[in-house]
Amino acid sequence: MTHPGDYQNEIYFGGLRGVKPRLPVDYANLIKRAAMALPPATLTYVQGGCGDEFTQDHNASAFQRLGIVPRMMVDCSVRDMSVDIFGMHLPTPIFMSPIGVIGLCAQDGHGDIATARAAAQTGVPMVASTLMNDPMEAVAAEFGDTPGLFQLYTPKDRALAESLVNRAEAAGFKGIVVTLDTWLTGWRPQDLNESNFPQLRGHALANYFSDPVFRASLKLPPEEDGAAAVGAWAQTFGLPLTWDDLPWLRSLTKLPLILKGICHPDDAKRAIDGGVDGIYCSNHGGRQANGGLAAIDMLPAVVAASQNIPVLFDSGIRSGTDVVKALVAGATAVGIGRPYAYGLALDGTAGIVHVLRSVLAEADLLMAVDGYPTIKDLRNTSLLRT
Ligand code: FNR
Repeated sequence: MTHPGDYQNEIYFGGLRGVKPRLPVDYANLIKRAAMALPPATLTYVQGGCGDEFTQDHNASAFQRLGIVPRMMVDCSVRDMSVDIFGMHLPTPIFMSPIGVIGLCAQDGHGDIATARAAAQTGVPMVASTLMNDPMEAVAAEFGDTPGLFQLYTPKDRALAESLVNRAEAAGFKGIVVTLDTWLTGWRPQDLNESNFPQLRGHALANYFSDPVFRASLKLPPEEDGAAAVGAWAQTFGLPLTWDDLPWLRSLTKLPLILKGICHPDDAKRAIDGGVDGIYCSNHGGRQANGGLAAIDMLPAVVAASQNIPVLFDSGIRSGTDVVKALVAGATAVGIGRPYAYGLALDGTAGIVHVLRSVLAEADLLMAVDGYPTIKDLRNTSLLRT
């Protein structure tokens, strides 16, 4: 029986042959290396957050205040990290959060494809952003046997929204994640100081430029008048959704519908009453609003309000230990965000695979040492505040 923690043996045995891992296994060293590798404008876009970045930093540091109590004399020689969610059986409880400029994080500009390949190799699903450098059909073609989800930024043009969802269904995505907190962009000083917003420079718009409804709205195709196409994108990008729009969103697809950005239990209840299949508790990694609580501190109330509906979680996950803590706090599955972008920047698909395997190995070994052989066992315990 193999376990994700076996990655540790691979690394140590590699050392006996003089082979060290190409990338660090920890986030602190990973980000240091990535900061040297990424072009400055991409680095600030990925690492930057909203305002003075209090919420962004707090998302990660809040995990330090939470502790797991070990249990002894439990047989953990066989462990199971699998989860069942939206009719899918996943070998591990993590997924890759949508990152709109992931395409740019790869040196060849095809980071969406590289990420899909990492999903295929690891069984860790990719939640693919609307903002891709390659069309969603080309990305989905690389998923192998691993399911993928499509994240929708709902455009003002509702026919375009329908077209994007229809395309995602046809391409084989297994669920639609609608992000609620980004109908406009939060105040991001790192990007503002560089006067840099990648989409306005024509990046990550492949899903729009390849869309028949979007193209029909243009006088000239994007290949002939790129600036006008970017302008049309900026005009349509963000529909300010209200609860009145939920029946319409629900009507767009028979696939599982998941709302991203839910942090209040009443919003979770309202979404569930409106027929969604999943709640995604996230504060967008502190990129959209500053001055908020750490996402992990809002998770338990959202989980309690969601009853039997699955709750995805991200924002601040930097390690396998954080993953385990989020599972204890009630998440059904846990999203890795910035860390995989840095892995990609340093070593393409292999870099993402390394980051995911490191996170999973740490989580698995923590469960083994602390006496929790399954996710169910984690759910039956609770976190203590240090
Ligand atoms: C994001 N995130 C995001 N979310 C989303 O729904 N659609 C998107 O296109 C993007 N794009 C994006 C770009 C970059 C550069 C980052 C860092 C993040 C938010 C993402 O899905 C997730 O919520 C956060 O990354 C979680 O925070 P941490 O853990 O990465 O800090």
